[in-house]
Amino acid sequence: MSLGRRWFCYAAATLLLGSFAACKKSGEGAAPAGSSAGAKTEATGLVVGHYASMTGSTAHFGQDTDKAVRMAVDEANANGGVLGKPVKLTTLDDRGDTAEAASAVTRLIDVEHVNALIGEVASSLSLAGARIAQRRGIPMISPSSTNPKVTQVGDYIFRVCFIDPFQGKVMATFARNTLKLDQVAILKDVKSDYSIGLADTFKTAFVALGGKIAVEQSYAAGDTDFSAQVTAVKATKAQALYVPGYYSEAGSIARTAQRLGLKVPLLGGDGWDAPELFSIGGDALDGSYFSNHFAPDGASPKGKAFMAAFKQKYGTDPTGLGMLGYDAAALLFDAVKRAGTTNGAAVRDALAQTKGFEGVTGKITMDKDRNPEKAAVILKISGGKAEYVGTVEP
Ligand code: PHE
Repeated sequence: MSLGRRWFCYAAATLLLGSFAACKKSGEGAAPAGSSAGAKTEATGLVVGHYASMTGSTAHFGQDTDKAVRMAVDEANANGGVLGKPVKLTTLDDRGDTAEAASAVTRLIDVEHVNALIGEVASSLSLAGARIAQRRGIPMISPSSTNPKVTQVGDYIFRVCFIDPFQGKVMATFARNTLKLDQVAILKDVKSDYSIGLADTFKTAFVALGGKIAVEQSYAAGDTDFSAQVTAVKATKAQALYVPGYYSEAGSIARTAQRLGLKVPLLGGDGWDAPELFSIGGDALDGSYFSNHFAPDGASPKGKAFMAAFKQKYGTDPTGLGMLGYDAAALLFDAVKRAGTTNGAAVRDALAQTKGFEGVTGKITMDKDRNPEKAAVILKISGGKAEYVGTVEP
């Protein structure tokens, strides 16, 4: 694979001002990262790096997020930029791979000289990137990684979404108290920190509510044959199957369940949030539920305005990912303005002090662990669409 193909260099400023090189190379103006970077970098304006799965089996995650991040950058630049200078955005494709995510982050810091990072969606990839960002003193905001370990990497790492101890409990409570289920089986992705963590919190909460885990099965991201696992679930009294994974495998698992006659609803989490879930899973998903960050029906006026702008620009509705990507970028700009500098430590402090920031996904206040408290929604799948069931406040 050629390096060139992996590079997505988007200088939003180029589109608007025509004055920025689309892909700035080392030494072309941006200051080196580190504590002395602030003053020098301000001469060229805020440089933002986005690392994302633009290709691969979770390509929807990266693409939807990147579209939204670019909207935030375009908007900021149309309004005079940040600290009076245009914002430059560079996106690198990590293809949904942990090693690629680490090298993308290194490259964004060393070659693009970014002042801050946005990414990743998948928790395992955010963890890989966060370790480097923390070491180098570059603030990072994950739009949508929900595993608690991500922000535990250190004080430069933030997120704008809820975390999985909450998300797992939301679905466990819904399964136990609303659907009145006694036994649920779990099928998790052992290659994903997200999946392992969410399976765990679901299990703990479901058992605490008096439910029983009928059987726990596993797969590894990229697997395409799930018949052994589905057969094992079929042999139990499970009344539902919890699949805390990503949309490609979740869709295939639903298909396999249908083919093998496992007639129970599937339950999932935010990793299901992609239109491809429906193209892969089809009617096998009817009657299934998943938890998510956002439902169009529940959007605030600000959220609705963003959705309309996204649709007008790209021709499709944003998923929760897009909404969170926009909020990550908008919060970063807000923090840089509050800090009055692009200096890493100062931006970190401003991010940590975030209180009541009005995002398109709701209000964001950072707690001491750099996580916001936010509501989750439950959606029901019917006829190839996700319908809003309800909102669960933290
Ligand atoms: N929460 C998932 C993770 O941490 C990523 C994700 C978020 C996927 C939102 C889809 C939608 O890995």
